Amino acid sequence: MSQLEVTEEQGRYNEIAIEYAAKIHRARSTSKATGQPVVDDLFPSYNRAGLGVYGEYERMGNQPVTDGLQAQADLQGVKFEHLGLTIGTVLHNIDLKQTLSSAAIKLIRETLLERKVVFFRDQNLTEDEQVSFGRCFGELDAFPFGKSAGNPYILEINHDEKRPGAENSWHTDVTWMEKPSLGSIAQCVVVPPFGGDTLFADSCAAYLGLPAEMQERLQHISGINDYRIFLMDRGGGALPEDLAEGIKKEISFGVSHPILRTHPETGKTALYLNGGFLRHESLYDNRTGENLDVEEAKEIVSFLQQQHGRPEYVCRFKWQTGSIAFWDNRAAQHYAASDYYPHQRSLRRVTVSGDRPYYTPVNE
Ligand SMILES: [Fe+2]
Repeated sequence: MSQLEVTEEQGRYNEIAIEYAAKIHRARSTSKATGQPVVDDLFPSYNRAGLGVYGEYERMGNQPVTDGLQAQADLQGVKFEHLGLTIGTVLHNIDLKQTLSSAAIKLIRETLLERKVVFFRDQNLTEDEQVSFGRCFGELDAFPFGKSAGNPYILEINHDEKRPGAENSWHTDVTWMEKPSLGSIAQCVVVPPFGGDTLFADSCAAYLGLPAEMQERLQHISGINDYRIFLMDRGGGALPEDLAEGIKKEISFGVSHPILRTHPETGKTALYLNGGFLRHESLYDNRTGENLDVEEAKEIVSFLQQQHGRPEYVCRFKWQTGSIAFWDNRAAQHYAASDYYPHQRSLRRVTVSGDRPYYTPVNE
């Protein structure tokens, strides 16, 4: 039998399939309601990730940036390269080694607010230049648990044959702080030959994509966050007890944050949690102070931890030496792919100070 011949069984199946395709199409087109469909109804209630992205995009005016921001970029000769519908933009034609004008700082800040993470290529800033760049956006937070480079505000994130990449879970930074850093600015100094990308997910779209009952359920839930993982043995030995006790006295160990966070500048609601710092069983109703049932708390955290990983919410950034990413911890989560071992990957990070998270219900 030649490859083009069709068996009788296959031929019969196709006849039936074609016949039913026509019948189903007729049935659906005659029952169709007239007028514009309601977008919510086009997405199944059990899978709203696509709707979450659309909801966020619609709120952005169905365009990647506002006209006002685009006009500022045009005026300054800055070109936008958008990576996702609602998240991630590379800013081209901007030199961060120069002292930035207030117009340039305003442009970067507003692009960060609208796009949640911004990127720059070929900057190759020195440590001090990176710290100065960070200071354009506010005070900086030093980091007590990592090896700082020469400048105490720089954290080295260095992985190689002895220390495989460990930032490969979805998270927003430093939720163990009472006032977690507003944003983080990382520059790549050594790029592995393959892999090592960082992925960024839109926490506002992730919130909008949650089932309506879950959005409702989370409204008044908070949890306790701490830095226990930095006190454990992570390959370099556990922290000596006196040092661990000392730091707990100086820096609060166990701070409460809401699971939904209102962005203090955009007013949008974001899904806000860090599975490594949050005590999963600690969820409680912040109106009554009453703890959730432990099993329910763990189920909620486990469900929420899967949300940012949905590809709909994600843009992926490929590092080159001198690339910079500046992300808004209040509106995005990130994940550093640990897929380059035994090669080296090194970033330098500074963090811009933030404020205490809160949640105010809004109609979104
Ligand atoms: Fe991080």
